[in-house]
Amino acid sequence: MPPILTPRKVIIDVDPGIDDAVALTMALFDPRLDVVAVTAVGGNVPPQQATANLQSLVAYLDPPRLPRIGGAADDVVLPERPYSMHGSDGLGGLELPRVALHGGHASEKVMYECLKAHPREITILALGPLTNVSRVLARDPGIAELIGDILICGGTVHAAGNATPAADFNFFCDPRAARHVVGEPVTKTLLPLETSAQVMLGFGLLDELPDAFSRAGKILRSMLGHAFRAHRQILGSEGVCLHDVAALVALTNPELFERTTVAADVETAGDLTAGMLVVDRRQIRQWRPNADLLVGCDAAAVQDCILRGFAAAAAVT
Ligand code: RIB
Ligand code: CA
Repeated sequence: MPPILTPRKVIIDVDPGIDDAVALTMALFDPRLDVVAVTAVGGNVPPQQATANLQSLVAYLDPPRLPRIGGAADDVVLPERPYSMHGSDGLGGLELPRVALHGGHASEKVMYECLKAHPREITILALGPLTNVSRVLARDPGIAELIGDILICGGTVHAAGNATPAADFNFFCDPRAARHVVGEPVTKTLLPLETSAQVMLGFGLLDELPDAFSRAGKILRSMLGHAFRAHRQILGSEGVCLHDVAALVALTNPELFERTTVAADVETAGDLTAGMLVVDRRQIRQWRPNADLLVGCDAAAVQDCILRGFAAAAAVT
């Protein structure tokens, strides 16, 4: 008799964004996860769009267990982007019915309340800029010890940035928040671009997607179709990197990722390097180790997990 595993409690922080939305679609139907809350943050799209996209996605997917939903703070200033891979609405023109869930609460409030209600049980899966996580930590100095752990999609150590030459988009959007969270005494894991980019999905994936008769299949086909076109037209790439989806798999299947412990910090003041993840690799390390860094993965196995996650979502919707 296989052991009955208790689903892992998780708060997913998103700036939907196609890869955020794909990860969310998988997570909401993964029996290994208990998605306690999903919280929106501005990033790929402005805060209000992020909140609207999140509300529409959750309402449309109608998962077996409805998570609490947090609204993105709109007092943030996001950097200008020369281009977006996510389309003007952030979801590749998906055009889901708009819903405004009543009693909308701020993401940081929802995150805070869930952490208080489930002390040391929750993993925060941070798939966007770290604004919300930083604000929760700043709200109550004691909250850090109530966080189980944090898995962060963000940073780049060896690869070129995707926002600037030195920084990934999530850290570049809010470098101070990134520095605050990376520096906090909380168990944390970083999935940098050089590792998530190893999970490059080719055009053949489109033929392996669930059919459009399921709700999950319908939105996956629509969003990923846009993602492939955008990668080809904007980046000249014959495949897509779904960084946030790789982060979800790093949470559900950590055995597929190689990790090392690092002493890391984030640049906040550099004209050219704001948001840069800096790791102390000196022969005699001076900084205190404060994070695990995922330095590699079994890309083929991760891709298999992604396809299984798509199928699982389609089977229920
Ligand atoms: O750099 C990775 C991040 O940039 C992901 O969260 C993705 O959503 C994009 O915005
Ligand atoms: Ca994201």
